Amino acid sequence: MSDRFLNLSKVHMNFEKNGTVNPVLRDVNLDVQRGEFISLIGHSGCGKSTVLNIIAGLLRASEGVVLVDNKEVNAPGPDRALVFQNHSLLPWLTVYQNVELAVDKIFRNSKTAAERKDWILHNLEMVNMGHALDRLPSEISGGMKQRVGIARALAMEPKVLLLDEPFGALDALTRAKLQDEVMRIQSELQNTVVMITHDVDEAVLLSDRIVMMTNGPAATIGQILDVDLPRPRDRIAMADDTRYNHYRHEVLSFLYEKQRKVEDFDKHKQQRNSTVASGSTKAHA
Ligand SMILES: Nc1ncnc2c1ncn2[C@@H]1O[C@H](COP(=O)(O)OP(=O)(O)O)[C@@H](O)[C@H]1O
Ligand SMILES: [Mg+2]
Repeated sequence: MSDRFLNLSKVHMNFEKNGTVNPVLRDVNLDVQRGEFISLIGHSGCGKSTVLNIIAGLLRASEGVVLVDNKEVNAPGPDRALVFQNHSLLPWLTVYQNVELAVDKIFRNSKTAAERKDWILHNLEMVNMGHALDRLPSEISGGMKQRVGIARALAMEPKVLLLDEPFGALDALTRAKLQDEVMRIQSELQNTVVMITHDVDEAVLLSDRIVMMTNGPAATIGQILDVDLPRPRDRIAMADDTRYNHYRHEVLSFLYEKQRKVEDFDKHKQQRNSTVASGSTKAHA
């Protein structure tokens, strides 16, 4: 097992607008092991998606190097599959055809037509979508669409699976169900996963390590938490587990004490000032 299957080294990212340089990421360094499940957590706008897009090869870092399996990343490739919060299925293709498109592209020369068909069905069954092969995206729920997106990504057999808030748009029950499915699939396939989330419970439940980012501009990794909980993890048992609650507390304290958003503070201060100015005695929480 390689210690640095995925490696980010001295990654800096600046966005330029009208001649002004906005530093978004500063000195991001991370080593991910093969088969590891990593969560990236941090306040909105700190640069999480930028990190993921750099790993995906959709963005080029201003400075620094990204290696996957010892190969430098400088373009998108099927070895890094990305799943977004809002599914990116093609609306005119069925569930089956959406996965088929990716599978045909990647395995055209290495699998026969029959093998490709089996492989598409296998991946859709893995996410419990085998019953809806002929449905169009408009005919299935949001949770089902995310399942198809995950099946499509898994079917590419990526070296690294990149998930950008994959459950963010789902209701709590659907979200829990999909989290459980992703945990089961990962224990089966031993994928290397980097997942962005802003949900503390999701991060603790799913991850081997939680990478916590500081606030921007020029965000970087502030703290990395090892989540040493046995698998399989059961969300109900975890609710009473002291270690689980300890990890949860660590992440909460990073986000809401150490990296409390300055804007929130300013907003409250402004609110207080205007309350005082208007002579109101109403308490503000
Ligand atoms: N293509 C872009 N051009 C200019 N600025 C960008 C671009 N993408 C993201 N940003 C800026 O970079 C910062 C980080 O964005 P992002 O990575 O999307 O944050 P997060 O995913 O943590 O919410 C934000 O301030 C955002 O406005
Ligand atoms: Mg984002």
